[in-house]
Amino acid sequence: MTPPGIFFIVCALLATVNSIIGEETCRQYKSRGYLTADCAEKRLSKLPSDLKSDTEVLDLSYNLIRELYNNTFSCCTSIQFLYLQGNAIYEVASHVFAPLSSLQVLDLNRNVLGEIPKNLPSSLQRLYIDENPPIFKNEPVLEISSLTSLTVLTSSSQKLQVFPRFDGVIPNLIELNVSNNAFKFITPQDLAPLCQLQFLRVSGEKLFTDREYQCDCLRFQKWVEDFKINVDTKVTCSTEKPEACILEHTNETLQIREKCLSELSARKLPYKLMIGSGIIAVILCIGILLYIRHRRRKRNKSKTVGGQNSRTPSVKYDNKTLEEK
Ligand SMILES: *[C@@H]1O[C@H](CO)[C@@H](O)[C@H](O)[C@H]1NC(C)=O
Ligand SMILES: *[C@@H]1O[C@H](CO)[C@@H](O)[C@H](O)[C@H]1NC(C)=O
Ligand SMILES: *[C@@H]1O[C@H](CO)[C@@H](O)[C@H](O)[C@H]1NC(C)=O
Repeated sequence: MTPPGIFFIVCALLATVNSIIGEETCRQYKSRGYLTADCAEKRLSKLPSDLKSDTEVLDLSYNLIRELYNNTFSCCTSIQFLYLQGNAIYEVASHVFAPLSSLQVLDLNRNVLGEIPKNLPSSLQRLYIDENPPIFKNEPVLEISSLTSLTVLTSSSQKLQVFPRFDGVIPNLIELNVSNNAFKFITPQDLAPLCQLQFLRVSGEKLFTDREYQCDCLRFQKWVEDFKINVDTKVTCSTEKPEACILEHTNETLQIREKCLSELSARKLPYKLMIGSGIIAVILCIGILLYIRHRRRKRNKSKTVGGQNSRTPSVKYDNKTLEEK
């Protein structure tokens, strides 16, 4: 074979190897202090094998992942931000996310999930499940109320027929995005378990348009007004026959809200205790220091009153005795 021929073959081989490696390898770098692996749009059907074990941000969006197994993320249990949107995930093993004890953000938008993944770590703060099949149905969804750090949940564009129902109170939730769904009303009972909710996003929803929901509309308005929930869409209720509706909050809904509030303060209690005991410790320390200073000053004073300082003479005396010896 002629030298140019060999050169050509070597080049072709290198190009092939490079394209294989290039396709499999993610760009790994440090971004804002987080070790980041950018694996977006790499046609991956599983995690690349060369991820660093201390990866903190893992972007796997827009790939071809269909299933998540119990050990899928066992390579990298330090993940805090996990982006999985735009895959075709339909099957999630029950303990995939459990080992990720630092996970804060989980983005599962644009997949084909049938339910919320099980055993999500309690560190999770933001969960995005937009554009999946309807995950919330008539039955309450389990799993969510055990997420004691969850502040943001988005479940938009899912063709939900009902407002999300949870298995318990969700005291930490501050923002809920359920825009572009198909439910027609929201009741105070739906909102009562979310006692800290500040932002409710329901744009693109045809809320309270049917005549049968007139009273619900007024009750909804009263609830969001009384408990200061920002709704991103203006809800206008028909003023027709409002006297026929009972608008007072029912004891039942108030009780659910109370339960949420007491759960919230129970969750805050350890912090309060920690802060409280910290303050007490500081006060005690200051007190002890002041007392010691006070004692010292008192002793010094009595010594000055006595005319001399006891330590120096004793040293002098020692020196003297030493000299004498
Ligand atoms: C995942 O782990 C759990 C608990 O260890 C186990 O019960 C379950 O069967 C596992 N799932 C799969 C698909 O292996
Ligand atoms: C809520 O969800 C909709 C639909 O996905 C989206 O367009 C909108 O930006 C979201 N709003 C916020 C504040 O995240
Ligand atoms: C609701 O609670 C109030 C005050 O606790 C009580 O007076 C009232 O009877 C209760 N109403 C119902 C329907 O239980």
